[in-house]
Amino acid sequence: MAQQTQQNPHSKRPTLAEGQRTDNWLFAPATFFVVFGMFVIWATFRTFLNNYFYVEKYHYLSPFYSPWIKLPDSWQVMGLHISPALLILPFPLSFRLTCYYYRKAIYRSFLADPLACAVKEPAPLDKMRFKNYGGERVLPFIVMNFHRYAFFAAVIFIILLWKDALEACTVATDSGIKLGFGLGSLIFLTNVSLLSLYTFSCHSWRHFIGGKVDCYSCSALNKTRYGLWQKVSFLNEKHGTWAMMSLVSVGVTDVYVYLVSSGIITDLRFFN
Ligand code: FES
Repeated sequence: MAQQTQQNPHSKRPTLAEGQRTDNWLFAPATFFVVFGMFVIWATFRTFLNNYFYVEKYHYLSPFYSPWIKLPDSWQVMGLHISPALLILPFPLSFRLTCYYYRKAIYRSFLADPLACAVKEPAPLDKMRFKNYGGERVLPFIVMNFHRYAFFAAVIFIILLWKDALEACTVATDSGIKLGFGLGSLIFLTNVSLLSLYTFSCHSWRHFIGGKVDCYSCSALNKTRYGLWQKVSFLNEKHGTWAMMSLVSVGVTDVYVYLVSSGIITDLRFFN
């Protein structure tokens, strides 16, 4: 009779050297490291550039500078005007950085803690781990609980960005504005659609819609909440995808505005 081997459920965690995962587990954290790293570098450059963020003729306003804020000329540091993007950035940034998906991705890609499921931290980092890790009930990670509030600020930004996207489908004329559509309009509409999918697939939103209910069928309101919860759950299944696609689309939108407003390229117009 063939001898059965039994796995000890309490055996020590697998290490990199043991190579227990044979799939390409490094691909996801490495890709996130590169994409998110590039985004942070570009966003920092653009935030402090404080220029080339608006194409007046086609009403293209960079998402980093939306909503439009005109700061007093006297607001200067070392002779330089303070960038309004600095006042805007904390809102989308706090939403992204406390997002459940980004937390996982950042812990894996930038802290290697751990790099992936069933992959132990590299030895030098393993020794540096928090000795008194208390989860998200104590500092510093307790700040992650702010996410549920950051969500509501993000919804306000979604409304403002939809307004920007619709305005990007117009052209300034001598007598006012008229409809017009260019590659930039398409980029703006795609960007705000992806941002909406990302925002409304949020785990906190899903809990807000359908959480803390003992009986979904006991009242008309709870039945409605159940129906909405199912729809949010459908979006939520791809939350990580929306998170990455919307990050890239924000970057692409800003790069496009930068290129057109600085005169490096001209907008490709489909009409008007
Ligand atoms: Fe990712 Fe809320 S969990 S946006």
